Amino acid sequence: MTTRLFNNIGELTTNDPTLGDESSLGRLRNAALVVDEHRVLWVGATTSAPDADELIDVDGAAVVPGFVDSHTHLVFAGERSAEFEARMSGERYDGGGILATVDETRRATSDELRVATTTRARAMRASGVTTMEIKSGYELTLEGELRLVEIAGEFSDEVTFLGAHIVPEEFAHDREGYVNLVAGQTLTNCAPHVRWADVFCDTGVFSVDEARRVLLAARDVGLGLRLHANQIGDSGGVGLAVELGCASADHCTHVSDGDLDALSSCDTVATLLPGAEFSARTAYPSGRRFLDAGVTVALATDCNPGTSYVTDMSLIIALAVREMAMTVDEALWAVTRGGAKALQRDDIGHLGMGARADLLILDAPRAAHLAYRPGGGVVHQVIRATR
Ligand code: NIG
Ligand code: FE
Repeated sequence: MTTRLFNNIGELTTNDPTLGDESSLGRLRNAALVVDEHRVLWVGATTSAPDADELIDVDGAAVVPGFVDSHTHLVFAGERSAEFEARMSGERYDGGGILATVDETRRATSDELRVATTTRARAMRASGVTTMEIKSGYELTLEGELRLVEIAGEFSDEVTFLGAHIVPEEFAHDREGYVNLVAGQTLTNCAPHVRWADVFCDTGVFSVDEARRVLLAARDVGLGLRLHANQIGDSGGVGLAVELGCASADHCTHVSDGDLDALSSCDTVATLLPGAEFSARTAYPSGRRFLDAGVTVALATDCNPGTSYVTDMSLIIALAVREMAMTVDEALWAVTRGGAKALQRDDIGHLGMGARADLLILDAPRAAHLAYRPGGGVVHQVIRATR
């Protein structure tokens, strides 16, 4: 096992409140960090750093935990830039474009999907994402969803079954039949390959009752639950996520004070996805409103070809700070520890003792540069633990 000492860290964000300034960011100045291939072994002052096999002098740079992207739809074929252009000329997003990607994804070979996913996963890793959740949901057939979760599993251990993404065309006149299939054989096929199940529960997509059926079936086969909730309208999805104890309610663009009350008194994380509001040119949810209500907030890219073709987490941080009234520190926490909480993981999203050695060396003296210099280029080096 080789140990590495990162020395002369100008600003180290650990997200471990027992360290440094004892804030939720657990911040140290003039710090050092020792890791091996897997874990953080030591955190402290540069002046008292222990010896290690390798010494890396970062020369005053800021170091932060690797980003945890807890919501992506990375496995798909094709692109929908024409739909984006149409929206920019005033059309409203209603979720219908998903079927265009379903069509292209069904026609793609598995190798084509692998190549496309590799390109996006590489871009994400280069932007600092060290853990990414990946959903299925662009084939919507028995064999197709299985194919997508298997491919997703080549890129991540955090794979989510999203058979209930939309009702496919062949079931347009039998939505109940489709819900039965998703909650039945498709789920049974996919369950051994995934950790999570999700449903697009929203106005005009799947109702609260339909989502509940799918999620209860998923829980019965041992899967963790998450939910696309309240993106298009105040659809009751957040209430369902709280009722079922989902790990995360995602989007939460339209929430009532009652939803916030409910979220603040349970473990369900609100995962905000500002890439979707950016790309749909719709109003951002106020992150401030969630935080002031005491809700745990994560931020993620939602990388997908329709509503958020975003692979750079720094853009998400900048949007949260500029458009959603979050401070830089709150946004940084939300893309690291918040994302980890949305995936119910304690080993990532922080750099406390024993955490996975996933860290980012910034080309900046302070983490604030992630929002201050938007457009990428602040993440200088990505260190990812051997899995
Ligand atoms: O998270 N909301 C549902 N799913 C995606 C959109 C997928 C698509 O438009 O292809 C989302 O925004
Ligand atoms: Fe999504």
